[in-house]
Amino acid sequence: MNFGDTMKKIGILTSGGDCSGMNAAIRAAVRTSLGRNVCIVGVRKGYLGLLKSDFLPMDTKSVSGILQRGGTFLQSARCDAFKTAAGQRLALDNLAKEGIEGLVILGGDGSLQGALTLDRLGFPVIGIPASIDNDIPFTDMALGVDTALNNIIYAVDCIKDTASSHDRAFVIEVMGRNSGYLATISAIASGAEYAIVPEVEFDLAEICEQLRYRYQEGRSNAIIILAEGAGHAQTIADSIKHAIGFETRVTVLGHYQRGGAPSVFDRLLGSRLGKRAVELLLDGERGKMVGLSCHEIVATPLVEVVKGSKRPEDDMLRMAEVLGI
Ligand code: ADP
Ligand code: F6P
Repeated sequence: MNFGDTMKKIGILTSGGDCSGMNAAIRAAVRTSLGRNVCIVGVRKGYLGLLKSDFLPMDTKSVSGILQRGGTFLQSARCDAFKTAAGQRLALDNLAKEGIEGLVILGGDGSLQGALTLDRLGFPVIGIPASIDNDIPFTDMALGVDTALNNIIYAVDCIKDTASSHDRAFVIEVMGRNSGYLATISAIASGAEYAIVPEVEFDLAEICEQLRYRYQEGRSNAIIILAEGAGHAQTIADSIKHAIGFETRVTVLGHYQRGGAPSVFDRLLGSRLGKRAVELLLDGERGKMVGLSCHEIVATPLVEVVKGSKRPEDDMLRMAEVLGI
């Protein structure tokens, strides 16, 4: 007998950094579960909600009107207590008391580590990769990346207008934690002169030399996109000003990148991942992460997913270099 067939109630939570598209996944998961006559409960604020038994029974109306909203209507949190054996035991006890027999978990690499921990403790879980950093292996794109990129491009285009109006160089810091994916792709898509990323060593003197050469050619403004994990924006801006006398400014895009109405891509990806995650859980699969591979939704054991992290493809890193300066 397939254990999934016996499930009568499952749960879903969003953990770690929130991102646009999470609501689309929650909505699809709820409607897929109810469509198979299985109750589904929302867990508020990620793993913290498991420790506090912060459960929200949901019906099909609960997820109306959330598809187009950024963030997560179940809210999220970072919860160190869940990293402890006592925290995990309390979470399992609370799940059992609530009668929840399986969980769909949305989040980044840390949250997926948490999902693997539950799996190793014998609790059925399916993970959904949701992080703007796009540093999760075994999926071409994590949920929220496309919307974050569009947010960044919109901001860079705006900043380019003022940079060219004042002959200034801007260092624009984007998120990504230790990944340079957002910086690389947004540099290519915005036509920035430079992308500074953790994956590629950079020579500030050489960058200044190339900017000076541009300046002497009459190209009197420049955009440098800096991944937050690769350097200090003000230090880089001061070095450029010092080296070539360029007026420089720094803009840190911050959490603006994580919000906003999800793009079509993220609404569709969220819907597909949410639906498939519940189907796999109810069909007896466990300890896996759903992901996107060449337009197909695939499932990978969590133990493989947490082994590594994903870096931007070399040809993208090269393209940002070639198309920039
Ligand atoms: P993200 O999921 O966005 O990468 P974090 O790395 O902060 O964010 O992880 C989110 C939460 O996942 C943590 O606050 C913690 O509750 C849980 N978590 C992270 N790493 C582990 C781990 N190794 N074991 C158990 N739980 C973990
Ligand atoms: O992991 C997603 C992310 O947005 C990173 O890019 C960033 O470094 C971090 O989360 C910010 O975390 P917080 O929202 O806790 O400040």
